[in-house]
Amino acid sequence: MQDDRTILKAVEVTKDFPIEGGILPVLKGVNLDVHKGEILAIAGKSGVGKSTLLHILGMLDVPSSGSVVYDGSDLAKLSTAGRAEVRSRHFGFIFQFYHLLPEFNAIENVLMPAMIGTGMLKWFAVRGAMRKRARMLLEKAGLGERLRHRPSQLSGGERQRVAIARALMNEPKILFCDEPTGNLDSKTSAEIVEMIWGLNRESGLTTIIVTHDESIAKKATRTARMVDGKMVQQSSG
Ligand SMILES: Nc1ncnc2c1ncn2[C@@H]1O[C@H](COP(=O)(O)OP(=O)(O)OP(=O)(O)O)[C@@H](O)[C@H]1O
Ligand SMILES: [Mg+2]
Repeated sequence: MQDDRTILKAVEVTKDFPIEGGILPVLKGVNLDVHKGEILAIAGKSGVGKSTLLHILGMLDVPSSGSVVYDGSDLAKLSTAGRAEVRSRHFGFIFQFYHLLPEFNAIENVLMPAMIGTGMLKWFAVRGAMRKRARMLLEKAGLGERLRHRPSQLSGGERQRVAIARALMNEPKILFCDEPTGNLDSKTSAEIVEMIWGLNRESGLTTIIVTHDESIAKKATRTARMVDGKMVQQSSG
């Protein structure tokens, strides 16, 4: 039965990676429901498969078996183009090491998902409006004075705020965060956490956050805990 609070669901998801001399089973039958409007933390020790699971939930990778259901549709049944469309229009991503494009400045990095989502033909008609939105998102992130800085000219916290603005560019339904504060000092970390939680408070943005930081997991609506490729516990708070 599909719970109507559920926006994204993993059903018996496994992932094996080919390695020299065999395969490495990393996810061993993960079941997980993500509810609309919640912040779900995925916690667990290094190497248990948290990032692998997040990548599969966000369609950056495919499961070896099992399925991922988004808004009632089995993602495996979509074409590659259909999956790319869902990923680019419905999902936003934030990573530990920001993954900004070094050759482009802040506003160009934020515009990138819009450009990819719109396609070249339509881009010229909408780019003015998109630039306005990118600027608004950067200003909201406190980077109004940094629009033309390249990533190498920004601090870690500023880079992550650019990455958050970029993740929001296409108005995602789900924000996927993989250790978004893992590379930051505690003060900057707290600012980034506040920004992510603020988005959830203001617009009810559904957020999945992989973290090994217990203080972040504690703030989440629910925490799903992984051990050795499996979910062992899901709890509130
Ligand atoms: N492409 C790959 N090929 C082979 N093994 C992989 C691949 N990607 C991940 N693994 C292995 O899968 C396991 C889980 O990796 P994953 O990155 O999901 O862990 P994690 O829980 O996110 O860890 P961390 O907290 O350190 O980020 C690790 O043992 C890793 O070496
Ligand atoms: Mg990881």
